Amino acid sequence: MNIFADRVSRVKGSATLAMATLAGELRAAGVDVINLSVGEPDFPTPSHIIAAAKQAMDDGFTRYTPGPGLPVVRQAAATKLERDSGIKVAPSQIIVSNGGKHSLFNACMALFQAGDEVIMFSPYWVSFPEFVNFSHATPVIVGTNAQSNFEPLFDDLADRITPRTKGIIVNSPSNPTGGVWSRAAMKQVIGIAREHDLWLFSDECYEALTYDEPFESAAYIDPDYEKILTFQSCSKTYAMTGWRCGYMAGPEDVVKAMSKLQGQSTSCPNSIAQMAAVAALTGEQDVVQEMKAAFDRRRKLFVDLLRKIDGIDCAMPGGAFYVFPDVSAFFGKSVDGTEIKTPDDVTQYLLNEAHVVTVSGEAFGDDRHIRLSYAASDTDLKTAAERITKAVARLN
Ligand SMILES: Cc1ncc(COP(=O)(O)O)c(C=O)c1O
Repeated sequence: MNIFADRVSRVKGSATLAMATLAGELRAAGVDVINLSVGEPDFPTPSHIIAAAKQAMDDGFTRYTPGPGLPVVRQAAATKLERDSGIKVAPSQIIVSNGGKHSLFNACMALFQAGDEVIMFSPYWVSFPEFVNFSHATPVIVGTNAQSNFEPLFDDLADRITPRTKGIIVNSPSNPTGGVWSRAAMKQVIGIAREHDLWLFSDECYEALTYDEPFESAAYIDPDYEKILTFQSCSKTYAMTGWRCGYMAGPEDVVKAMSKLQGQSTSCPNSIAQMAAVAALTGEQDVVQEMKAAFDRRRKLFVDLLRKIDGIDCAMPGGAFYVFPDVSAFFGKSVDGTEIKTPDDVTQYLLNEAHVVTVSGEAFGDDRHIRLSYAASDTDLKTAAERITKAVARLN
């Protein structure tokens, strides 16, 4: 007998968290694993942010705060958005949540319901379809391909819009591909959202990590479209994943609706993390540039190493800290009588044979690629590439 409510079976668990857990278990069992499944910076939170959190505790910021966040944090997020993204919003247009994920979840709950359709592009971040499933709306997946830099195939997109379509979710720089959409592609998607009066969710949690071109926020590209919701986070920009602090900027009535839901679920974001976020958002930003420079160096190093491996076809991603190589050349090859047929099989093989943890593209709605994170030391990246080279050489 199923004792659980339907919503439990309606959503899938996070495949990326599952891989990270598996890596932890193997390590605890004494296996020398290299975990390239991680979705977080490997740098410590910068010291001035930690100092601000300690100060906040000493100053008594240990109580509930207003539901959408302390005024000082909403102001700090507004200041940051104008400084770095050129978006002008009032603090009343900001909600601070327990991570960008929480803001995205609240927004889906506030705006979507049964009968609605919400468009997203595969490969998609694992949580997008699940947020939509939670809301009882239906995720509609529009494919992309590596040849087109994982930008939307606009004919397909046009075909999938129906009278039920309520929103489009975009994510550039992207998890899992690391791809950064061109301004033209983003502009076209916003144009389609405008034409059909759709919400445009722009998940910009990797805004600080674009290597070849400056980042452009969707709301900067079209400042007049009122249905753009901008989601950002302290997690990746400031190496603060565990602090759980992210925010959304959008119309005030959406902020109010989300605050109502947030107030009845978590009451408010963590008070100490909020004060740390003020230091992060408005303090010195050199640390962000330093982390970005390190990621950029590792990006080039790792792509170079992967491109030397027979059978791996790896594009140079323009952002985030992921590479998303095509591994379909291994499909149909075997080792010890077991045939590799899918990206799942490749990740499983790399785990067993090379002790390198990666994430299958299938978790992101893709059937040719795997995701590897280069938020890891140079030594780990080099050793991982050596181990993968040896492992795949055994396939025939
Ligand atoms: C695309 C994307 N959006 C949102 C998030 C959520 O980040 P957080 O809740 O830590 O702000 C992540 C985290 O991995 C992500 O990859």
